[in-house]
Amino acid sequence: MTNAAKLRAALKKPGALKVVGAHDALSARLIERAGFDGVWASGFAISASLKCIPDASFITSSEQLEVERNIAEAVSIPVIADCDTGYGNALNVMRTVTDRERAGVAAICIEDNVYPKRCSFYAGVRRELIAVDEHCGKIKAAKASQLSPDFMVIARTEALIAGWGQEEALKRAEAYAEAGADAVLIHSKSKKFDELRAVYKAWSGRVPLVVVPTIFDQTTAEEMEDAGVKIIIYANQPVRAAIRAMRDTLDLIKRDTRPGAANDRIVTLPEVYDIVGVPQMERDERQFLPVG
Ligand code: SPV
Ligand code: MG
Repeated sequence: MTNAAKLRAALKKPGALKVVGAHDALSARLIERAGFDGVWASGFAISASLKCIPDASFITSSEQLEVERNIAEAVSIPVIADCDTGYGNALNVMRTVTDRERAGVAAICIEDNVYPKRCSFYAGVRRELIAVDEHCGKIKAAKASQLSPDFMVIARTEALIAGWGQEEALKRAEAYAEAGADAVLIHSKSKKFDELRAVYKAWSGRVPLVVVPTIFDQTTAEEMEDAGVKIIIYANQPVRAAIRAMRDTLDLIKRDTRPGAANDRIVTLPEVYDIVGVPQMERDERQFLPVG
């Protein structure tokens, strides 16, 4: 079964899928081992981890793609690629789709920010969105270029992020579904889930809803499910956990000077071996290498 077929099948089950943002193959493997339903290849987290740069279209499509391929190879749960604006116009989106599909990705998400985009939560310059028709064109181009019928295109609107209001958000979400999107993500930076709950109440329900509770982070999965959500994306908690764990460990070793001072806050070497597949490598060695 392809990754895309797995995602489609999982969506048919009751309840919401819980998908977590990865920044590399290792974090993706941990997400799978923790029992989550899928991996979000996060633009925010990959920008931070791969190049230590802001999430502002500085990462190229190929840089992002390479990480997505690494992630898809490391896990057997579906991978959803955060493709920002699709890296250009509708024609660029077509190549974005085929590249991702060939890399083993199950779905892409494209948002209606103008290119170059900036992270939804950065304050500062006024936000602009592309015209509804233009984003619909990108969605149609994405659907026309996918290789397998199972591949999914998630359309994301930043209307609430830009302050354009609930009506505009709903109008855009409906238009994107009409254009052929397989699911829609209405992003919100409100501290309360109430804003999205109100929009969802008026939603036609024609395709599944995807939510990213980064800012309204006290909302439970059950509350989001009850509001009709089918995919919950915990977008950036692993990279934030990694930063804190690394920083604390580095501070400790700097102070103490003995590496072992950090032993009770780091994993053992055999744990690393296990995660990266050393036991399988050893079985292969026994089977295929001359006995020494
Ligand atoms: C990302 O993870 O890059 C996202 C989700 O787009 S968020 O940062 O919450 O907007
Ligand atoms: Mg992103």
